[in-house]
Amino acid sequence: MKIPQLPAPRGVRIAGTGSFTPDAILSNEDLSKMVDTSDEWIVQRTGIHRRHICEPNSEGTFSMANKALERAIEDAGIDPSTIDMIIVGTVTSEMTCPSTAARLTAACGATPAGAFDVSAACCGFMYSMNLGESLIRVGRANRVAVLGVDHMTSLMDYDDRSCSILFGDAAGAAILEAVDDPNRGSIHQTMHADGRGWGALYIPRKSGDIAENDTEEGIRLGCLRMNGREVYKFAVTKFQRAISSALEATGLEPDDVGIYICHQSNLRIIESAVEKLGLPEDRVYININEYGNTSAGSVGLCLDEVRKKKLVDESKPMLMVAFGGGMTWSSSVWNW
Ligand code: UT7
Repeated sequence: MKIPQLPAPRGVRIAGTGSFTPDAILSNEDLSKMVDTSDEWIVQRTGIHRRHICEPNSEGTFSMANKALERAIEDAGIDPSTIDMIIVGTVTSEMTCPSTAARLTAACGATPAGAFDVSAACCGFMYSMNLGESLIRVGRANRVAVLGVDHMTSLMDYDDRSCSILFGDAAGAAILEAVDDPNRGSIHQTMHADGRGWGALYIPRKSGDIAENDTEEGIRLGCLRMNGREVYKFAVTKFQRAISSALEATGLEPDDVGIYICHQSNLRIIESAVEKLGLPEDRVYININEYGNTSAGSVGLCLDEVRKKKLVDESKPMLMVAFGGGMTWSSSVWNW
């Protein structure tokens, strides 16, 4: 008998992207009427001016993901029934069962594609994209839809000024598909987690979940808890290390990268990486001013914007990087 052979590794291309942000705006001015804060403080410490937020009871994780995916499918010009897998990075799925990804197979017409959600906080899109890319590369799938979406404002305690000023709602999606050239797609990728620091950024569902060192009175169950200073320290270090390791592993100099897409967590965190590593400032994409931190939505939203604004130079690779709760961090260097 002739042993069946595995297909040779292929490359991957981004066939289309889409994103969705709600119309309703929560400005710094609005927040300053809700908690003791000011536009000046928020802009100085975070770079955020406003966020787009879901209308309660009419918009949410599933509806945002569905619209972003519809747009990505349209952009790719594909028949949705040819999608083999849908992977959704999110921590705000309406239900733990079914997954948001499973509901999307029916909504977009991709049944019976495989589907699952990934819980990696702000790294949700990066993890999904890295997984989807790998499935295609080894020949397990030909076309994968990857998404990052979070309805962060559903997790906010609007009495907690240090956390609630940061977050907005968004979804980003990309359609990945196989190409013959194995040099296209993710030429380097990482996915990491260090659970020792989980208590710095978490969502307690019951009192037993509350982290030992989180001693504040009046903690609201179901709301995001964040030790901003701890997360900041972690983020500054990990962000810089993730970018420098990706450059080192691929032999690229900062200037060789055509576009940097960084998770939009805090403008100061991104700026410190730019300064420390000497990244070309004009190629580091920023939209945190408009949307705030949209968790898993952020990287996919940026990817869609840079493509639509024609900021991509396909002769140079893209470097994507994120960090988030868990604590998690992830990167990818992408050859167009
Ligand atoms: O996607 C990952 C998720 N999270 C992050 O990336 C967050 C990372 N951390 C941060 O971005 C920053 O730590 C924050 C923006 C959350 C806070 O900025 P900071 O410069 O680290 O402020 P801080 O926590 O050190 O607080 C400085 C002061 C404190 O007052 P005192 O103790 O000096 O009197 C805070 O009570 O600022 C006060 N403060 C505020 N004042 C006005 C904290 N939040 C606010 C606020 N408005 N919203």
